[in-house]
Amino acid sequence: MKKKILSLVLCIMMVFCFSACSNKGDSKATGGNSGNIEVGIVLPTKDEPRWIQDQGKFEELLGKAGFTNQVLFSQGSSATEKANVETLISKGMKVLIICAQDASAAAATVEAAKAAGVTVIAYDRLITGTDAVDYYVTFDSVAVGEAMGTFLSEKASGTGNPLYLYAGAATDNNAFLFFQGAWNILQPKIADGTFVIKNSSEALALKDTKELTRDQLSTIIGQVTTDWDFNVAKSKAEAHLTAVSAADKGNVFVLVPNDGTSRSIADVFAADSDVSSYVITGQDAEVASIQYVIDGKQSMTVFKDTRTLAADSINMAVSILKGETPATDATYDNGKKEVPSKQTPVVVVTQDNVKSALIDSGYYDASKFTGLN
Ligand code: GAL
Repeated sequence: MKKKILSLVLCIMMVFCFSACSNKGDSKATGGNSGNIEVGIVLPTKDEPRWIQDQGKFEELLGKAGFTNQVLFSQGSSATEKANVETLISKGMKVLIICAQDASAAAATVEAAKAAGVTVIAYDRLITGTDAVDYYVTFDSVAVGEAMGTFLSEKASGTGNPLYLYAGAATDNNAFLFFQGAWNILQPKIADGTFVIKNSSEALALKDTKELTRDQLSTIIGQVTTDWDFNVAKSKAEAHLTAVSAADKGNVFVLVPNDGTSRSIADVFAADSDVSSYVITGQDAEVASIQYVIDGKQSMTVFKDTRTLAADSINMAVSILKGETPATDATYDNGKKEVPSKQTPVVVVTQDNVKSALIDSGYYDASKFTGLN
């Protein structure tokens, strides 16, 4: 009898421990006993360092913000994202801050939130095709692409420079803004022969077209997308370098949309004996990529200060909870409405300004890096 009770108690403890431990990374509701929350935050995935950066900033600022909240991750799934939002609605959420996994699939999810009286703030990535988005906080994503295009152009001299193009996930509206931004700068240099595209027949076919339509962007992105996935990026780069001749390599230029995929692609180009040098772009100032920049293995990254983005969205939530209209300074057309937005500029980081841009600004501690001068 004693044994039976003991094993029963043990079972109950294990079940309790399991439920408390699942969804590691999701934060607990800070809603006191009721578990109710005022502000829900939904981020795409824990598997990319970028969103862990944002989670850290949110948690730093939320403590001081004085409203109950919870941060949940969608792990790359629109279905999980929907379930997360439903959970937050059931907890009485009043304001939703959401970075969508898939720009159009998220429309139904935020429409459900809207129907429950929630104010919706799109975070970093725009949600398209719905009027259920009230506000948008973001970085200037076209400027991100233009910074990458400018960086590559300034490093190139003469004509015939081999250019390899890569893009973000086609489900992410930002991927279109990044690529259009880069194309704004690169297209004239492709048209005048400074650069020769080596890995995209779709982009080559459009080399004389400066303003690409959404459909034209889709065809190019469809061909060179990395899906924001390190492994997809690696295997695509390997296939591209296998498909071309040594004459298409030498001193090459590589447009890559973010840091995680940049490190993967840089390693592939570095390992190719026909590649004598490469200039490669990135984005997000991830710790691992800053080390690559210091070591000369990645040429630059576009720093997006997630402290500002998190603070902007929290300030918006505070205004909304007070019944005020949040401050905005831009609008974005999401295909259904002009969404009032708050846009933050970006900073290019190279070996020359790692210290001033990231250490002196307090974004990172110097101890995270080696070889920092
Ligand atoms: C974009 C975001 C980037 C990036 C990428 C991958 O939407 O703006 O900073 O890292 O997603 O998650």
